[in-house]
Amino acid sequence: MTETSQASKGHPSAKAPQKTVLNLGNLPPKLKASELKQSASQYPRTPSRVNPNQPPWPAYRGYHEYSFAHATMGVRLPTILGKAIDDVWKTLNQEYDEERIVDLVNCIHRLEDLMGDLQGNSKLRPIIDDGAGDVALWNKEIAKFFRGKDFMNAPWLFAEAYKYRRLRECFSLSKFWVDYDVFFRQKCDTFSRSNQAVFELSQRFAEPHKGNAHLSPEAKLEKDKLLFLELTQVCLWGNSTDLSLLIDMTEEDIKKLQSTGGDHLAATEKNILGNKLHDLADYVMTIKNGRIDFVLDNAGFELYCDLVYADWLIQSGTCSQVIFHGKKIPWFVSDVTKKDWDWILNSCVYGQLFQDATDDQVESLRTLGHRWKQYEKEGKWKYEAHPFWCTGYTFWDLHSEAPDLFQHLSDSDLVIFKGDLNHRKLTYDCHAPLDTPFNQAIGPLASEPGAPPVCSLRTIKSDVVVGIPAGVGEKLDEEEPGWKISGKYAVVLLSEGRKGETPVYNQ
Ligand code: F6P
Ligand code: MG
Repeated sequence: MTETSQASKGHPSAKAPQKTVLNLGNLPPKLKASELKQSASQYPRTPSRVNPNQPPWPAYRGYHEYSFAHATMGVRLPTILGKAIDDVWKTLNQEYDEERIVDLVNCIHRLEDLMGDLQGNSKLRPIIDDGAGDVALWNKEIAKFFRGKDFMNAPWLFAEAYKYRRLRECFSLSKFWVDYDVFFRQKCDTFSRSNQAVFELSQRFAEPHKGNAHLSPEAKLEKDKLLFLELTQVCLWGNSTDLSLLIDMTEEDIKKLQSTGGDHLAATEKNILGNKLHDLADYVMTIKNGRIDFVLDNAGFELYCDLVYADWLIQSGTCSQVIFHGKKIPWFVSDVTKKDWDWILNSCVYGQLFQDATDDQVESLRTLGHRWKQYEKEGKWKYEAHPFWCTGYTFWDLHSEAPDLFQHLSDSDLVIFKGDLNHRKLTYDCHAPLDTPFNQAIGPLASEPGAPPVCSLRTIKSDVVVGIPAGVGEKLDEEEPGWKISGKYAVVLLSEGRKGETPVYNQ
């Protein structure tokens, strides 16, 4: 653990607000237990009362000591920021031009100010206008819902996203370092350290349809379904390797998480607590020459798994197009940006990342890389980065705050949301009962006319959990405290949506 994280553990920002004495003379008397029960049933809030500071069920906030929000706001974010500052110093030490150095020193000063605000639990100030298109969206949300809120008492999701937008501001106000990504080095490193799993996949999928010619249509469908089930799990568990949580993991630990063998996958299906994997497979087998969208999560190994999966969707004739949605700015440490996208495709074709690789292994990776770049040229694969994905809004607001994006997604046959943060945003990141049906938990993205079929592939790394059978979570609470943040468990959840209906937009 770094010095920063040790220091931040005891910092006041990691504590609940101080006890306050109130004069309650004019307020109603305290509720009795029976009345309290009734007040619990006021959730979920009716849609007209839902807003970013008032989710459908109670929000997680940094001062909730029982929640992962508390550990993240008080310890993880300062640690991540400390590592970011180290990264910038590394870059600065390799610079020779004085103007660029001075400009970078100013970025470091802004990073230190951000660290001060985070650790001093400052109020959330507006984002400085750096000319970017998202500033108005951010500042409107702060003014409407979070005026006077600080890092610890704003809803965790907003406070955490805000920190990454402030991190961006440290560079966007500079002259030479506008596009600097403090996480880029780390993202490249995890991919380079994943050789075993990388080659296992490249050697199996460089020619995915080898030996299919003699199969009857039924046998081909059966084979396709089995392959799809396997690849969906590869894509799902690829999400356990998230850099923001892997800070203390050894290379062995990472390899274990990335193991892609068939037996391993059969065993890990038991850990999918809300499991619509087979419904998903049945639905996908009906799609021919369709379009599937991925709302991406992490770069490096996870992105590689997504690409292998998407490649199979094209090769099998399921899709004629796959659209990938990445981030415009460095986000939650490991999320994919355009630079990460280009890096992985080019590394597969031209790179020398894996020292002990055999010629066959390198060749299989090249074959994939060439094919993937060709898909891009032909428009079969598209990388897009709508600014909405890097705001503090949840996806309950996608329809109202980004109607263009909603309309675009409504043309898709399936939108796959990868990872923990996307899942938090789908479900408004609040304290819903564990067995809340997924389509209720994602609100408008399931119920609005035109909503596409939505699937969440997520390894569970934070408090919000929905869509699992009653009793399962309660049992784990007793037997395995920490199950919600270990990444050992997952959900594969599906909503049918209302595809084909015309979206309606209120004024
Ligand atoms: O910082 C907390 C968090 O947002 C969690 O949701 C999760 O642990 C991590 O960061 C991001 O995970 P993922 O990359 O799967 O979205
Ligand atoms: Mg991520």
